[in-house]
Amino acid sequence: MKRRKIGNIGYVIFLFITLLLFVSQVTDAALYENSYLPIKLRVADLLKKMTIEEKVGQCIQVERNYRGPADVANMQYGSVLSGGGSVPTPNTFESWVKMINEYQNAMAQTRLGIPIIYGIDSVHGFAHTRGSTIFPHNIGLGSTRNINLVRKIAEITALETSALGMHWSFSPCTADPQNIRWGRSYEGFSQIAKINADYVEAYIKGMQGETLRDYRKKNTIAATAKHYALEGWTLNGQNQGDTVLPDNYMTNEKYINDVLIPALEPYKKAIDSGVLAIMPSFTSINGLKMHENYFMLTEILKNRFGFKGFLVGDWNAHEQVTGSASEQVVRCFNAGLDMFMCGNPNTDTPVYDGLLDAVKNGTISMERLDDAVSRILTVKFKLGLFDDNRYSDSNHIRDIGSKEHRDVARQAVRESLVLLKNEDDIVNRLKDMKHIFVAGKNADDMGNQCGGWTITWQGSSGNTTDGTTVLEGIRKNVQKGVNVKYNKEGNGSTGYDVAIVVLGETPYAEGEGDAKDETRLKLDQIDRECLNNIEKENPSIPIIVILISGRPMLIADHIDKWKGLVAAWLPGTEGDGIAEVLFNEKYDFVGETSFAWPKTFNDIDNMPELGKVKKVNNLFDIWYGLSK
Ligand code: BGC
Ligand code: BGC
Repeated sequence: MKRRKIGNIGYVIFLFITLLLFVSQVTDAALYENSYLPIKLRVADLLKKMTIEEKVGQCIQVERNYRGPADVANMQYGSVLSGGGSVPTPNTFESWVKMINEYQNAMAQTRLGIPIIYGIDSVHGFAHTRGSTIFPHNIGLGSTRNINLVRKIAEITALETSALGMHWSFSPCTADPQNIRWGRSYEGFSQIAKINADYVEAYIKGMQGETLRDYRKKNTIAATAKHYALEGWTLNGQNQGDTVLPDNYMTNEKYINDVLIPALEPYKKAIDSGVLAIMPSFTSINGLKMHENYFMLTEILKNRFGFKGFLVGDWNAHEQVTGSASEQVVRCFNAGLDMFMCGNPNTDTPVYDGLLDAVKNGTISMERLDDAVSRILTVKFKLGLFDDNRYSDSNHIRDIGSKEHRDVARQAVRESLVLLKNEDDIVNRLKDMKHIFVAGKNADDMGNQCGGWTITWQGSSGNTTDGTTVLEGIRKNVQKGVNVKYNKEGNGSTGYDVAIVVLGETPYAEGEGDAKDETRLKLDQIDRECLNNIEKENPSIPIIVILISGRPMLIADHIDKWKGLVAAWLPGTEGDGIAEVLFNEKYDFVGETSFAWPKTFNDIDNMPELGKVKKVNNLFDIWYGLSK
């Protein structure tokens, strides 16, 4: 009985498709343009119609800075990106919509009308234009241990990004940074791959949705699991550095099954969650760059894990592999890379020429090219870009930075805070204090609390976007009649009951944040002077330090002098979340540090070994966190 039912449905679908095929024939509309047909069929139809040049074009992504709509249409490129800080002028929400529409209009005029897929780093919300909601960087989200919250954040990020016409984010970062010297530490949720896998899954499901129907919605976008793989395991925590594995890691099945595959759990989960793109890392394994590693890209990801989406290169990373420009292109493509990110000006031409020549002379097979193009087109069809999803729903612009979105960001800030020290119950006594002194360079600095990848690639200090600073949050959350005084340099604390000192790092991204030596991980001179000023003027005032930083810092020299210490990571625009937990009895500290917190520079493991846990001397172990 049951079987018969399914048979009937199958028959009806068959009839329906046959009818559609018939109608398409009669009306002469191309099959690939028919949104009722199965994606496989549409891809096959389109592929059949494409020239080699058009196929090669799909495999190239260019930066908006140097290739405008006419160039992209002329070359029939597959994708355009905004690198960090690459924004339209003026940098308003309306400009984004206008710019991307111009690209899509130009594409619609081409022979086959294949839309571009526009990608951007919405790594902590759409943080490229003043007024959007900026969430804590991943290190903070990892400390919340709240998977549902991460899913919600990814949903909002997708909505704010898609409202501006973009279809794709280069997030989530799946890294499990082993070494806080690495400048990208804050992009990782935690140091444990297995735990990150759950965050990655939640993030991807939030950003893309879970079904084809979800993918086609206006307010969802494609996610990218990045950067594949083991980028948090490089020697000395060096950005774009080398990860050392046993020589036979590609052939030793026991090692592959027992050590390598478990370390790649976030990728396995990402793929099982339907992630549409994966970005290989700038790093290498035993000297071989990931972009040219056939074993890692094709054998593991595509064959073993069954990845059906496409592999997008990192920013001109193909130029770092061995060989001449054309050899580089061939090596990467044959290793399994499907789309080249040609970020730097005019770097598209050698890739285009290299691919075209190689396909013509057989160094790249037509089968490989068709595979790459099919993967890219499949994602575009899945997202509905050939149908009504080509253009944004600009109605959602009014939701960008809305109160609802900021409320979620504020909740994330509250839950990401890690109370590391609470001597004499200082935090609970705050609510009875009438005179509160606030100091420190990160107390009233929106740019500093947002960190890198905010408005610009590196981020910067100052009033860079709209939100609430930590200081403003404190002013909002203290009881009526409480006197809050702020002095950035820490002068004038006499007569105050407590000093809340907001210290830490200033913004950086990628290798700019690498710590070559310990100075980078210790409090800088400005912070030390601020603390000195307070201690000199008012030796008995209790100090609570709020540390704003993209990673644990080396604070062992100072901590004994502090009564309280809170790791606030890089909280983003909603700094009042910090004051809410400090002053409001309704909230408690629930965060636990998702990174182990080394005591000294020498306690940092510069040669982490996959599958081995080394005992190190920590100031705080991973998952440490007090409540009030
Ligand atoms: C980064 C990626 C980023 C890309 C585009 C690269 O330098 O490594 O994480 O997605 O630039 O901005
Ligand atoms: C871009 C970033 C990119 C970086 C790579 C910068 O100019 O803005 O997006 O990640 O270059 O080097």
